[in-house]
Amino acid sequence: MTQHFIVIGNPIAHSKSPDIHQNFAQQVGLDIRYARQYCPDDKDSFTAVVEAFFAGGGVGANVTVPFKQMAFELCAGRGGLSNHAQVAGAVNTLLLKDGQIFGDNTDGQGLVNHIMQLGWQLEGANIAIIGAGGATRGVILPLIEAGVRQISIANRTLNKAETLVQELQHASPQIAQAKISVSTIEQLTGQFDMIINATSIGLSGDMLPLSDTLTCNHAYDMMYGRELPFLQHFTKQGATISDGYGMLIGQAKLSFERWTGKIVKNTLI
Ligand code: ATR
Repeated sequence: MTQHFIVIGNPIAHSKSPDIHQNFAQQVGLDIRYARQYCPDDKDSFTAVVEAFFAGGGVGANVTVPFKQMAFELCAGRGGLSNHAQVAGAVNTLLLKDGQIFGDNTDGQGLVNHIMQLGWQLEGANIAIIGAGGATRGVILPLIEAGVRQISIANRTLNKAETLVQELQHASPQIAQAKISVSTIEQLTGQFDMIINATSIGLSGDMLPLSDTLTCNHAYDMMYGRELPFLQHFTKQGATISDGYGMLIGQAKLSFERWTGKIVKNTLI
């Protein structure tokens, strides 16, 4: 029997998730249909889409921009949230648990798994993360669980980084015990094992105001696409680099495994 999945977003036309999940399904011989689901950007529409999908026998849904917080709120009032979703304040994976809509978040673990696949050491690492929005919120706990020693969060707006850290420390005892500091982007200096760009500056071509004395062994941009200025900057310094395409595959793999119970290979397609 065909199992049905969707990814809900706005815009959604260019989502690569259907291709990625079809690849996973082929690997394990499952018959699935995975569709892109457009949704108007309001809570009532989002709730209606999710309810109709699961009432119609849908197995699992991914949630992308701008609905991850709405999905969090929906699940908080229904079937509940995984610890990663709870701490991230966002949901990217919906499923039914005891007949109720349950929310998980595989984004941060998807990043961690990709970094491990690259062979970049996280255990004991000294990491800098630039940005203090939703993307950063979702990766802090998985990075700490992977054994990072120290995290420096640098953001254009300093008080947003301070508030984020306070909220995360409040949400998770593991984060409360971790070594985390905050600064502006210009103030971020010195040598790091890894620097992660979690801002939405993306493909705009604009460059972050990085200090000349900021260096790293590995640079990771959570965005993906050609010629990201952030990665070009660290390539010139001799760092190993990666964009976030592997993170996209990594989060999809974890969602697929949660829905189907089947383990798949993380092949870049
Ligand atoms: P996301 O969910 O993708 O993290 P977000 O919550 O809107 O999106 O957060 C965007 C992040 O990118 C923020 O850290 C933002 O910095 P501010 O908190 O100062 O707004 C950062 N950002 C976006 N555009 C930027 C730019 N041009 N320069 C530096 N930081 C930028």
